[in-house]
Amino acid sequence: MAQFALPNNSKIKKGDSYNVAKGDAKNKKMFKVYRWNPEKKDEDGKVKNPSIDEYTIDLDSCGPMVLDALIHIKNDVDSTLTFRRSCREGICGSCAMNIDGTNTLACLKPIDEVKGDVKITPLPHMPVVKDLVPDQNHAIAQYNSIEPWMKTDSPAPARERLQSAEDADQLNGHDGHGPAACILCFCCSTSCPSYWWNGDRFLGPATLMQAYRWISDTRDEATGERLDQVEDGFKLYRCHTIMNCTNTCPKGLNPAKSIAEIKKLLAVRK
Ligand code: SF4
Ligand code: SF4
Ligand code: FES
Repeated sequence: MAQFALPNNSKIKKGDSYNVAKGDAKNKKMFKVYRWNPEKKDEDGKVKNPSIDEYTIDLDSCGPMVLDALIHIKNDVDSTLTFRRSCREGICGSCAMNIDGTNTLACLKPIDEVKGDVKITPLPHMPVVKDLVPDQNHAIAQYNSIEPWMKTDSPAPARERLQSAEDADQLNGHDGHGPAACILCFCCSTSCPSYWWNGDRFLGPATLMQAYRWISDTRDEATGERLDQVEDGFKLYRCHTIMNCTNTCPKGLNPAKSIAEIKKLLAVRK
């Protein structure tokens, strides 16, 4: 018989509460953060359920972004909190997580944009390694499958392979929001319902946008081969133009448009 309720071991429990804002602090905010540690076992030896820990902090003790608050919590309140981050300026893509119901980059998300408590969970529909760290091995393997490097058969020129400014615009976008600006944070793929249900075979918007980045690169000489690679009912055509990907991209890019461009090129080729 079909079972629609969550299994007991995936139910999220209330976790620990920490209040480190002084009584007279004027700028208090509560952060409700998803916690799960595969090494934490109950008395029967089973891995403990995930929980939501609550941290009330004084915003005057940290910077303005959600990542600043997480770093403050880790440094000064609870060193066990685990999350990824590197650049702190929206370049590396490693701090992607779900904040206040939207996939975004913690380093680009101002705390004061969130009304009420700040709820933070890992990117949805990816296995969790620990706390806010998702396992991206599958998504990265899909990215590798499109062979994201320049392929050429013609002899290499004495210096670099040049491209016209117009052709470069195709990649970078007139406004810097073209496919080459993607930082592979996977906020888009993990907001796509088609990727949630068919992510084993559908490549998802992040990888498809990268496929288009190489397909549309006028220096690349494997366009036909690249189109063959993605021409597949699951890899490409599971995209139903729902547009969640474009709506959620924290860099303001348009993966849905890139996917539509690939479909157009395939239609013209027939
Ligand atoms: S398109 Fe945007 S959301 Fe998707 S991986 Fe690239 S930067 Fe992230
Ligand atoms: S347009 Fe919709 S279905 Fe297509 S990749 Fe984006 S979110 Fe997924
Ligand atoms: S820390 Fe690099 S994108 Fe946020």
